[in-house]
Amino acid sequence: MSFSIIGTGKAVPEYVLTNDELSTMVETNDEWISSRTGIKRRHICKDETMTELCVKAANEALEDAGVTASELDLIICATLRGEYITPSQACVIQKEIGASCPAFDVNAACSGFIYAMDVADGFFARNRVDKVLVVALDNLSNIINWKDRATCVLFGDGGGAAVLSKGDGLKYIEINAKGDTDVLKCPRGENTSPFYNHESEHPYLYMNGPEVYKFAVTSMVRGIKKAIKEAGLTQEDIDWVIPHQANIRIIETAVDKLNIPSEKYIRTISEYGNTSGGSCAIALAECAKKHMFKKGDNIVFCAFGSGLTTGSCVITWDKD
Ligand code: UT7
Repeated sequence: MSFSIIGTGKAVPEYVLTNDELSTMVETNDEWISSRTGIKRRHICKDETMTELCVKAANEALEDAGVTASELDLIICATLRGEYITPSQACVIQKEIGASCPAFDVNAACSGFIYAMDVADGFFARNRVDKVLVVALDNLSNIINWKDRATCVLFGDGGGAAVLSKGDGLKYIEINAKGDTDVLKCPRGENTSPFYNHESEHPYLYMNGPEVYKFAVTSMVRGIKKAIKEAGLTQEDIDWVIPHQANIRIIETAVDKLNIPSEKYIRTISEYGNTSGGSCAIALAECAKKHMFKKGDNIVFCAFGSGLTTGSCVITWDKD
């Protein structure tokens, strides 16, 4: 026995940055961004802190689950950069929501939500936990080079949270990594040590888009197929696909290559852009809030990102 998802929540900043506004900042235009990526808008932190967003998503998920913070046995935050280097973002969340359980971060970039659920699965398998809070949220706007049109148009801030409870919802989960510091990275930046003999690189997100695109398409199709097969299901058994929202063209390629009807794929990218680890969690919470899932629905998740990492899983919806 592993876990079922019993509550979800999401949080995105108020401020919406449109393609047209971006066109006044760098040489780009709505036509290029929309046709190449499917992105129309993204939400960017102005007045909110990352912690405030994490706490909002966490509290929404707890309320949805009917679970109090004191009942949590573990908090995992999936983020590539918390508000502090230390303490972990999960410890900050623990303090803010008034929980008292162990808490730690998982850094797997865009695959973070699935990595965090896989880690949680291990705790359930060892019978160490009954209720786990996973928060998957990234605040990429503060590591983006806002003068680089090849990256600044792609990303947004925000994320979601899920409360996991002992149950049979998880049917299969898999994570992978292929270490690479060339195609997608964000250096840490300044090194304060007077003894260190290496130049610091700028702390900006850097991506070789076309290379990541090839990796993304291959891993998305392979990940979805494998998760379904390992769960003992067929593509016809799948009710919903929640793919990482990096580029609508990556999602449409998966639609073309798989036998799952297009309307079963969740697409949130036009509203939020790529929110890294937050993307699958936002999509999950939005669908749950709209009551799109019926008890017994099979949902396949698939994500890929910096690392390079990938993750996929099949979860049967267990909630009424
Ligand atoms: O979640 C993390 C994983 N990330 C991803 O999965 C992203 C994967 N990659 C992609 O989604 C796509 O590669 C991008 C959307 C990033 C880029 O699309 P592309 O079709 O691969 O374009 P490209 O990088 O090959 O650039 C095509 C042209 C270039 O101009 P030239 O050299 O053909 O004259 C770029 O300079 O588009 C130009 N360009 C832009 N033009 C207007 C690049 N960015 C922009 C822009 N506005 N924002």
